[in-house]
Amino acid sequence: MKALVLAGGAGSRLRPITHTSAKQLVPVANKPVLFYGLEAIRDAGIREVGIVVGDTAAEIRAAVGDGSAFGLDVTYLEQDAPRGLAHAVLIAREFLGEDDFVMYLGDNFIVGGIGDLVRRFRTDRPQAQIMLTRVSEPRAFGVAELDAAGRVVALEEKPDHPKSDLALVGVYLFSPAVHEAVAELKPSRRGELEITDAIQWLIDGGHRVESTLISGYWKDTGNVTDMLEVNRLVLEDVEPCVEGEVDGDSELIGRVVVEAGARVSRSRIVGPVIVGAGSTVRDSYVGPFTSIDRDCAVLGSEIEYSIVLRGASIDGVGRIECSLIGREAEVTPAPPVPRAHRLVLGDHSKVQISK
Ligand code: G1P
Repeated sequence: MKALVLAGGAGSRLRPITHTSAKQLVPVANKPVLFYGLEAIRDAGIREVGIVVGDTAAEIRAAVGDGSAFGLDVTYLEQDAPRGLAHAVLIAREFLGEDDFVMYLGDNFIVGGIGDLVRRFRTDRPQAQIMLTRVSEPRAFGVAELDAAGRVVALEEKPDHPKSDLALVGVYLFSPAVHEAVAELKPSRRGELEITDAIQWLIDGGHRVESTLISGYWKDTGNVTDMLEVNRLVLEDVEPCVEGEVDGDSELIGRVVVEAGARVSRSRIVGPVIVGAGSTVRDSYVGPFTSIDRDCAVLGSEIEYSIVLRGASIDGVGRIECSLIGREAEVTPAPPVPRAHRLVLGDHSKVQISK
């Protein structure tokens, strides 16, 4: 069995973070979301992985390399433009050969991995196996319609009038039967070859398509609330570990990770929290469910339930909550008088200001 990981796409829903970084490399608990997928694939016993890359190919290659760091053997497959998930299967035809494969969208996060799903597929051998999850915004997904017996009867990509709240999760298992389906497809109304249509083709042709309902799923809906929530879920499981320096005037409570080269002084950290390598936390309070990436500074401030990306600094600003702070961002106090906000915001930024 092989894996096909999709790591192209523009990431427009996660702007402004994805203006400067591939969406699959957005960190969750200081680790790119793509890495969790690669680890889940390895843990399911798969070794050969094809990664489909687009505009951000260089960045993905730099992060993943030949896959050996994950115990994987990675082949890169270039997609000239985002022409759809089924198009990715089409260009991977040679790599996939006659093997079964799991297709994994690199921006999806599934709590608990895919081991059970892969085992079930190997035992049952349907032509395709999909995962469904209940979502509040089905129009942003492929949506499944089930019959009274719970079998999938129809799938629709990003419907205006969804027939259910069951969204297709971005992890699919296929037998080689899918190649015939993708070869038959015509572009959808958004001009892409949809994997949803390929699965519908299999259903219409009388092939067996199984589905499983899961919870604990996240996708980049552009919703910072969701990112903070998945970050919280992952931090719930971190093992405390202090490799950096923590001075005697600081207090670490609960599960706190202080990576090598990080420095904590005169501060109080209540876990679960991760402080990345080379970061400084001084005269501050860091509260539960906060991830501070590498080379950040939190000085004379309070921060809780937030994600701080690499190289950002927060200096003397009181309390920050429920926030996503981008790479190299600087957060500083405004001069007290006149009372006004001074902002330099990237395109598509979202800022909440207290009145
Ligand atoms: C794709 C699929 C969609 C699925 C989603 C899950 O959407 O087309 O059916 O529900 O992934 O992540 P896209 O990421 O292209 O918006």
